[in-house]
Amino acid sequence: MAGRIPREFIDDLLARIDIVDLIDSLVPLKKSGSNFMARCPFHTEKTPSFSVNRNKQFFHCFGCGVSGNAIGFLMDFNHLDFVEAVEDLAAFLGVDVPREQASLPRVQNNKANVEESYELLSQVAAFYYGQFRNNPEAQKAIEYLKSRGVGGEVAKDFLLGYAPDQWHILEAQFNRAALLRAGLLVKTDKGKIYDRFRGRVMFPIRDRRGRVVGFGGRVLDDSLPKYLNSPETPVFQKSREVYGLYESLEKNAKPRRMLVVEGYMDVIALQQYGIGHVVAVLGTAISTAHLDLLFRFTSELVFCFDGDSAGRQAAWRSVEAVLSCMRDGRQARIMLLPQGEDPDSLIRSKGVAEFVRMQDQAQSLSDYFFENLSQDQDMLTLEGRAGLVKKAAGYLQKLPNGVFQGMMMDKLKKIAQVSDLDVFEKPTNLKYTNKSRLPEKQKQNSPARTAISLLLQNPELEKVVEQQGVDWEGLDSPGVNLFREIVHRISQSSRPSLASLVEGFRGLAEEKYIKQLGFQVTLVPEEGVESEFSDAMQRMVRQARENMLEILIAKEKSQGLDQHEKQLFLNMLAKK
Ligand code: UTP
Ligand code: MN
Repeated sequence: MAGRIPREFIDDLLARIDIVDLIDSLVPLKKSGSNFMARCPFHTEKTPSFSVNRNKQFFHCFGCGVSGNAIGFLMDFNHLDFVEAVEDLAAFLGVDVPREQASLPRVQNNKANVEESYELLSQVAAFYYGQFRNNPEAQKAIEYLKSRGVGGEVAKDFLLGYAPDQWHILEAQFNRAALLRAGLLVKTDKGKIYDRFRGRVMFPIRDRRGRVVGFGGRVLDDSLPKYLNSPETPVFQKSREVYGLYESLEKNAKPRRMLVVEGYMDVIALQQYGIGHVVAVLGTAISTAHLDLLFRFTSELVFCFDGDSAGRQAAWRSVEAVLSCMRDGRQARIMLLPQGEDPDSLIRSKGVAEFVRMQDQAQSLSDYFFENLSQDQDMLTLEGRAGLVKKAAGYLQKLPNGVFQGMMMDKLKKIAQVSDLDVFEKPTNLKYTNKSRLPEKQKQNSPARTAISLLLQNPELEKVVEQQGVDWEGLDSPGVNLFREIVHRISQSSRPSLASLVEGFRGLAEEKYIKQLGFQVTLVPEEGVESEFSDAMQRMVRQARENMLEILIAKEKSQGLDQHEKQLFLNMLAKK
């Protein structure tokens, strides 16, 4: 695989790009005051609330709340992953993306190998597909597909093929080393080499860009293993690819929802019946990488599982994975099928209308979650309800902060019939208390928010922090910790800027908070920024110190303080 892109290079790109030019080339902008405005490309609106700021090198929509830097814009607008967005941005500026890696020749060699693998895999897919026409032996595969009701058109859309029942057919036409690298041959411990797929119906797996990256192959009878899959290779990582994504997006690039099923044949059958938004994970558990990939194209996922106990177990594993990805605006539902049915059998026996009806009635993630957790608790007793709270707490604390988390907590309170879930609301347990519940005024005025916001927007203020020589000992609040983390990052960076700071928090729990504060309008005139900042910082420190003192006093009363805590207490008192 290609090496990491150096952080320096990314900061450099962000420093060189003008986000206004970049976005204007995709979404025409109009100047308005100090901002550039347009109708938001991420939601439907009549009057423009999407604004781009040249000084901050940042975009923000006052309507739907999306915001970010140039890289974030390309990721969202063009549905790219991070690396792809960096590559596109570099192309926009006409520079090459460097990679961190041992020695240059190796990098080039790897790159050449990767490109060769893509090329080879697509040739092999064409070869397997061509067997239907050129090889009489493939007749039995055609019969098999017919017997399962697979139509010619869908078979063609998915490039289905047939691997002849022979041991060395690929090597006769393609390069052995390249075949090995692409996972198409098996090499035994004794060094024997032969074709991995023999006598199977072949399902090429394509990545999001339509390149063949691997295969699944099914036997034509009841022999085992039923399916063989390509091994992981530099171009194929199972935790990152889903089957059918490319084909679904060909039909609709932005489906309202996507169905996640278990098998190759399920994808094929649903597509054949016109359900064009369906993917399958490849015989592995669904990963957060899968989920993040899918949520780039749709806001709702419906997970389809067999209703038997294995299916329910798999459903719960998906619930666990998806909970950690439930950022605002994302939705998930669980659709349990009648025992012994899979989507393929169901749609063939019951028809599309019934299938769609069941899909529409799929249970919401939250209902499914609580129903499952309450299953072996007696909700009529206090113990039962306490048990539920305890079990749910572990999951809910891990949810990304936001509307969904708030909603799940409210629901838990309701089900468990408790008015207050203080386990969740202590700042030490919850990084940031649910913002939507803070009164508007407090939201605006918290010293930590002001300090962080000013610092993000004016990274040069880092020198003020240094000059003031604040004593941070014993201070431990989410605001202070984040503030110090930002100070640290600024001091480590050769070109600190809002855009590069936001970049550094990409994917972390703080990302959303940083984006929000990075764009918060502070209304401080330029000459007043430094004193406003230093004032906010002092207030933040004082507040954190008072909080800490309170905690220590409470602890002293209840269980006493140890030596270290006593010392801390005295030091803090002295500073007050
Ligand atoms: P299923 O057995 O449910 O697949 O396994 P299916 O598509 O419904 O199969 P048939 O053709 O209708 O009988 C679900 C998925 O698990 C993986 C495959 O990805 C399969 O599609 N699997 C299953 C394997 O990788 N190997 C196996 O031996 C079986
Ligand atoms: Mn099946």
